Amino acid sequence: MPAKIVVGNWKMHGLQENMSELQAISISAAKSSCDIVICPPATLIQLATKLSRSFSIGGQDCHQEEFGAYTGDISAQMLADAGADYVILGHSERRENHLENSAIVKEKAIAAIEANLTPIICVGETLQQRESGQAVIKVNAQLQSSLPQNSNVVIAYEPIWAIGTGLIPTLSEISEIHDSIRGLLNKEFGPLGSKISILYGGSVKPDNARKIFGGANVNGALVGGASLKSNDFIPIIEALSDG
Ligand code: 13P
Repeated sequence: MPAKIVVGNWKMHGLQENMSELQAISISAAKSSCDIVICPPATLIQLATKLSRSFSIGGQDCHQEEFGAYTGDISAQMLADAGADYVILGHSERRENHLENSAIVKEKAIAAIEANLTPIICVGETLQQRESGQAVIKVNAQLQSSLPQNSNVVIAYEPIWAIGTGLIPTLSEISEIHDSIRGLLNKEFGPLGSKISILYGGSVKPDNARKIFGGANVNGALVGGASLKSNDFIPIIEALSDG
C-alpha cells in the first residue's frame, strides 16, 4: 500500500513569526497515521526542522546541479544539509514562471534522489486541455517525461485551473487521472509502482478533503493556502487519517 501523505506547500509565504503554526501541526502529526510534510520557504527550513519531530520538511524546488555559479538557486544537497527529506519539483508555478520543462524536472528529480531526498513530482493540465478532453493524455505525457528511473518518488496531480481558485474537478475526474497515473507507474516500475503515493492538489480545504480522499488511488494531498494555518491544515490531516 502507498503511504498516506499530506504535504503543505507554503509557497512564498512565511516569516519566523509564523513558526508557531508548526507547533500545533506537530501535535496533530504525532497522533496521525499519515506522513506529514511541510515545505516552507528555504529561509525557514532550518528553523522548521527544529520543530519537526513528528513531521518532515521539504524544499519547494532545487537546481539540477550539485553546486556551481547559479545565483539564487539551491541544490538538492543543500536542502538535505539543511534538514529536508523531500522536495517539490515541477510545480506548475515553476513550469510557468521559470520555464521549467519536463526534461529539467527529470534532471532535478535525479539530483534529488542522489541527495537522498524524495522528489514530489507535480503534473497537471490547463483548463483548455481539460475542456478539450485532453487531460488524461497531457498529464500522462508530462509525467512520462518528468519521471526518473527510480520509484522513490511521490506524484502530485494538480490541475492548474484548480490551484488557488476554489474550483476542483469532480471526484470521477480526479479518480480518472489518478487511475491513469497508477497505470503508468505500474507499467514503468512493475510491483514497485503500486507503492508510490499519488497526491491530489488544488483548492484542498477542510470542507472538501474527506470527499477527495474517497477517490480511487488518491493517497493524500498537496495543500497550498490551507496549509498556512494549523486550523485549516489539521482537519485535512484528520480527514486522511480517518479515511
Ligand atoms: P491551493 O491549495 O492554494 O489551491 O494550492 C495548491 C498548490 O499549488 C499546492 O502545491
